Amino acid sequence: MEINFNHGIQNIVGRSNYEYEYKIDDMNHALKSMDYTIKYLSNELLVAFFKQGMDFGIYGVIDKYKPKPNKVNSLLGYPNNDFLNDYIITAIKLGIIYQNEDGNLELNRDKKIIIKHPEYDKFMEDYIINYDHMTKLSKYALIGYNHPKILLNFIEDADIWDIILNTSYLKSCRNVIAKYLNLRNGDYILDVGCGSRSPEFYISKIFPKGKYTGIDISKNLLKIAEIRTKRWDNGSISLKHMDFCNAMIKNKYDYVICTYTLKYSPSLKIFLKKMMNALHSGGKLIIAEEFFKDTSNINIELFEFYNRLNKFFKNYHSKKEILDTLESMGYDIKHTSLSDGILVIEKI
Ligand SMILES: C[S@@+](CC[C@H](N)C(=O)[O-])C[C@H]1O[C@@H](n2cnc3c(N)ncnc32)[C@H](O)[C@@H]1O
Repeated sequence: MEINFNHGIQNIVGRSNYEYEYKIDDMNHALKSMDYTIKYLSNELLVAFFKQGMDFGIYGVIDKYKPKPNKVNSLLGYPNNDFLNDYIITAIKLGIIYQNEDGNLELNRDKKIIIKHPEYDKFMEDYIINYDHMTKLSKYALIGYNHPKILLNFIEDADIWDIILNTSYLKSCRNVIAKYLNLRNGDYILDVGCGSRSPEFYISKIFPKGKYTGIDISKNLLKIAEIRTKRWDNGSISLKHMDFCNAMIKNKYDYVICTYTLKYSPSLKIFLKKMMNALHSGGKLIIAEEFFKDTSNINIELFEFYNRLNKFFKNYHSKKEILDTLESMGYDIKHTSLSDGILVIEKI
């Protein structure tokens, strides 16, 4: 039976990960689809978050007892008080509940949450499923942040991350970057927080003459990357297991790529400095995240709330914060945005 997908992204997914060549139309469509998917996801996370508050009994006791925030868990008795407090703070920020003049919690009965059909031609469903996985894990966080079923650790749960890193959203990002930079045989790339899927993709674009260095804190993700890149290895591939904060980069690169990794960085300043120093002048740094805090009209609190289940998560950044940090360190740069979540910085 032949299945006809009526939207481009699914066709791209169906093709080999690294042989597909993007056309400009694909690139524009992919960028729009990526932004759209995150906006849709933001709303879907709100629905999931609201429903979880009901399931966990939080809104029920607030309605009945109007407790002070620090008293909610004495009414519910969950082992992880910190997680429950985080839930309540997030629900206040989202306007689902509020503190009255006496500091007691009440339900905001005017809060409306709308579920709509997505625009299917722009919707990257598999990335939404990735967050479904995360929201379902929160019931274990009620017991403890270190519960063994919270399968989000880059080291111990590398197999699950390998699947997440193969979603159409992340594949599209790699294809957009390759197209935008016009990657070609002979280019030098440093990939910060490379994971298990990016190495093979970028190596296929720049080899045999290019050079690829991937750095990652997860030995297990690098092991998978090593198996995938073996057939390309002519001595110019280097996969290094370390925290990028401790990396000593000796070579200079044409491009430094940091996709979906900056939010795990213990220090924005150290990451930016090391990435900029690794570039030739005229070289480009690409930073991608689901969004930057100052460019997107979404429920940032929800992305933060669910990402806190991953102990590597630090925080999302704004473009302004990144650009101001670069300026304060004295770098001469030009910058441009490809989408709500992709920033290109050229070192002058
Ligand atoms: C969401 S994955 C993104 C992987 C890859 N960049 C991609 O787009 O497919 C984040 C990666 O950053 C790595 N990571 C997190 N903190 C790191 C750090 N301090 N130094 C190096 N790698 C880090 C994780 O192990 C993981 O592979």
